[in-house]
Amino acid sequence: MTAVQDHSPTLAVPADWAGAAPAPMGVDQAFNGYVAGTVVHTLDRLGVWERLAADPLLDLRVLAAELGPAVRERVLRELVRAAATCGWLRLQDTDKVLLTTAGQEIIRMRGYFTWGVGGYDEVFTQAHRIVTGEAAFGTDVLRDEAMVALGSGQNDRAFMAGVLDEVLADVDFSVLADLGSGISARVSRVVADRPGTRGLGLDISGPATELGRRTIAEAGLADRVEAVRADVLDVCHRDALRDRLGEVDTVMSFFLLHDLLADPETRPHTFTRLREAFPAARTFVLADTVLRPDSADATSLPVFSLGYELAHALMGVPLHTKETYEELFAAAGLVPRRVVPFGTPHSWLYVLEAH
Ligand SMILES: C[S@@+](CC[C@H](N)C(=O)[O-])C[C@H]1O[C@@H](n2cnc3c(N)ncnc32)[C@H](O)[C@@H]1O
Repeated sequence: MTAVQDHSPTLAVPADWAGAAPAPMGVDQAFNGYVAGTVVHTLDRLGVWERLAADPLLDLRVLAAELGPAVRERVLRELVRAAATCGWLRLQDTDKVLLTTAGQEIIRMRGYFTWGVGGYDEVFTQAHRIVTGEAAFGTDVLRDEAMVALGSGQNDRAFMAGVLDEVLADVDFSVLADLGSGISARVSRVVADRPGTRGLGLDISGPATELGRRTIAEAGLADRVEAVRADVLDVCHRDALRDRLGEVDTVMSFFLLHDLLADPETRPHTFTRLREAFPAARTFVLADTVLRPDSADATSLPVFSLGYELAHALMGVPLHTKETYEELFAAAGLVPRRVVPFGTPHSWLYVLEAH
């Protein structure tokens, strides 16, 4: 999706970050997009995309049998027919469906639907209650943290891993921490690829940490990678984890920084506090999605950005421009060695040296 570039004052923005969905958006596109998103997510939860990725020809009778004795085969077939209506599958005969080229792209990008439909469904459908003050995010309205972490992990594998691996090839590390590690897929993959290294995944979410422990065990890395439930902002954990954090020479964090910067009071010092929590860390590999420049006048929309911006507004988490991130890094003595576009629209990956 995006090519890696070295840091330069005039970084080109990948063409696909402008997107192809028209704005203004027609009623038919808006309504069908909503329904189509739920179809993508449902087929993912049923494991249908995973099967089609392995073999593009799917036998519906075999699938129905494998989904268990209580399966409602007629409903399953209607879901598949909806995906065919969207052009992602082609019905071959009564029982067979074939994945199309458009369907391959949906499989590659299905993490966005896991994130949006799976993770933020309740936040979006309860938006009116959040607006009126009848309900608040975090108490009355919740996101599904495991789905948010899972969707991010799916996208990482599908179109971000290559960029990160290329960037990390230049980074010498022996103990790595991943902040907001989600399902710990990234830290596991990076440590597995570099013999002799160790990793620590820190995440505030219990369900994500649980999934992380499973990821680590399945990768056979239990002796080298650990998933710990912790609030990165909570200095108390620094005491509890002092020895382990003290060993870390490289800190990475992906798609978490906006959460850490949410409080305007602590924002100016957040990166300085992070440096103090990891006293031996010389390199910080940090990525996040920034506010779209000129979004008010855009005549097209990319995937993700609108959902990301609205979800965070509903959760009361402000988002920031690329320039604000760079000012905050500079104030903490973090100097960019490389800046590259990072797959998801308006997301940048920084390799920063602690000076
Ligand atoms: C958008 S997900 C990204 C997950 C993963 N880094 C990835 O890119 O696949 C953000 C993650 O940060 C975690 N998180 C949010 N606030 C946190 C905090 N204060 N401390 C630790 N983790 C946090 C969330 O639970 C979630 O798993």
